[in-house]
This record gives sequence, C-alpha cells and structure tokens, in this order.
Amino acid sequence: MLTIDVDDRTDPRLADYQRLTDVSLRMRTEPEHGLFIAESRLVIERAIRGGYALRSALVAPEWLRSLEGLVADDVPVYVASAELLKEVTGYHVHRGALASVARRPLVTVEEAIAGARRIAVLEDVNTHTNVGAIFRSVAALGLDAALLSPACADPLYRRSVRVSMGAVFSVPYARFESWPGGLEALRDNGFRILALHPAGMMSLAEVQLAPQDKAAILLGSEGPGLTPAALAYAEGVRIPMAGGIDSLNVAAAAAVACYALGRS
Ligand SMILES: C[S@@+](CC[C@H](N)C(=O)[O-])C[C@H]1O[C@@H](n2cnc3c(N)ncnc32)[C@H](O)[C@@H]1O
Repeated sequence: MLTIDVDDRTDPRLADYQRLTDVSLRMRTEPEHGLFIAESRLVIERAIRGGYALRSALVAPEWLRSLEGLVADDVPVYVASAELLKEVTGYHVHRGALASVARRPLVTVEEAIAGARRIAVLEDVNTHTNVGAIFRSVAALGLDAALLSPACADPLYRRSVRVSMGAVFSVPYARFESWPGGLEALRDNGFRILALHPAGMMSLAEVQLAPQDKAAILLGSEGPGLTPAALAYAEGVRIPMAGGIDSLNVAAAAAVACYALGRS
C-alpha cells in the first residue's frame, strides 16, 4: 500500500475530506469535483466491486490494516491521528477508513431501465437517509433500478451511501431531466405506474402483476408527498394503516411495496 503520513490539517492532499459535516458545502462541492466519500471497509469494498475507482483513502493508524488487500498499490492512503481526522472532517471517525471515490458519468433513464421489470421512482425525496434506505430495499427486495426526479437527494452523498450499505453502487439509477414529463415516457415504455399514496384508490394487496409485467413504484417526499402532476400519470395504491396514523415514512412505505411487488 502507498501509505503517506500526514500531520497538518491544512495539507492540500486532504482537501477531499475537509468539513464532511457541512452538508450544504459538500452537496455542492462533491459533484463539482467528481467525488464522493465512502466510510468503512465494507462500503469501500462494495464501491470498488461496483466499478468505482478510489482517488485516495484516509485512515487512523489503528484502522490501516482494514485496507489491506483492498486498495490498489497506486492509490495514496493518508494516515493521520484520530485527532487530526476529527479536525479535518469535523467528526469523530469511528467507522474506520474513509475513501474519496471518483464519480462516474450518470447513465440515462433508458440505459438504467434497459431490461428492467420492476423499478422505483422517487419524486423529490430530499432526505439522504431515506434515499439510502430506499436503495437498500430496492436491491434487497428484487427491484431492477431506481429513477430520480431532478430535485431528489444525491444517492452518492455520504449518508445515503452509508444507510444503503453500498446498495447505491449495485442498483442502476438515473435522474430524469424532465419532470413529471419523464413519467409519460416511462408509461410509453410499457411501465404501469403505481403511485404509493396514503389515500390511493387501490389497496397494495389488490395490485396484480404477472412476472413479465413492467411496473414502477412511485414514491413521494416527506411532508407534501407526491405532487398532483405526478399522480396524474399513475394509479394510486395505498398501504392500509391502523391506529389513526396518517402516513408511513417514505422508506418504510418503499420497503413494504418492494416486498409486495418486487421479485425477491
Ligand atoms: C410521509 S409520506 C407523505 C405524506 C403526505 N402527507 C401524503 O399525504 O402523501 C411520504 C411518502 O411515503 C409514501 N407513503 C407513506 N405512507 C403511505 C401509505 N400508507 N400508503 C402508500 N404510500 C405511503 C408515499 O409515497 C408518500 O408520498
């Protein structure tokens, strides 16, 4: 491994790791610089297996061994004390290694859904943890791809990556350029669009799909939920609830729907 000791928090080689807790800064600069951050050996390993290339890694001495056999010889591995890591990143790094990973160009919607039969479509889901949790369900419960409206949160943001446990690297995904117009193209492509909505006309148990049918599970944001414009393209499907509760968290609703309609 190409290990390099660092002891200066302003070392420019650590620029990729500066102020990781400043969400608005990182949301802007990571895509701009073509990188994202992966935390822990497991997630770094899944990123590599998903075809992503590491720019560098940053690790406290006690976690260095966790990168053995994982990081290519030409990738710099910066080694710094836990205190320095905290000063640079803004938090106590307790999951072991961090890696700065190079983004890849996003595929198009058509490429992401080529051959797909079951997909999730996220409208303006703007919480990173929900995006990560939904990707995890998509991967685990047998959906083939995920599509995002233009305002959806970034699946490669650190928290999305962590909550997805790396599922964001294995699920093909793309972002619509036109919204909600992109839904029309999806329908023309043969997808039945099932809008998950607490007041949907149809109960989830009533949805009938043959294995070869193409179906998209449409999910809305926390707070307002799906927009009327998106709902206009879809059949409303509800997960019946008890106890006077008015809605589920979107990631919980996604898990239930993926289990019922996915191909696991
Ligand atoms: C917190 S909910 C939004 C609540 C919003 N007030 C509404 O009426 O849609 C976020 C998303 O989770 C999904 N969802 C939550 N509860 C659901 C349920 N009981 N049935 C179907 N979908 C649900 C929907 O896709 C919804 O847009």
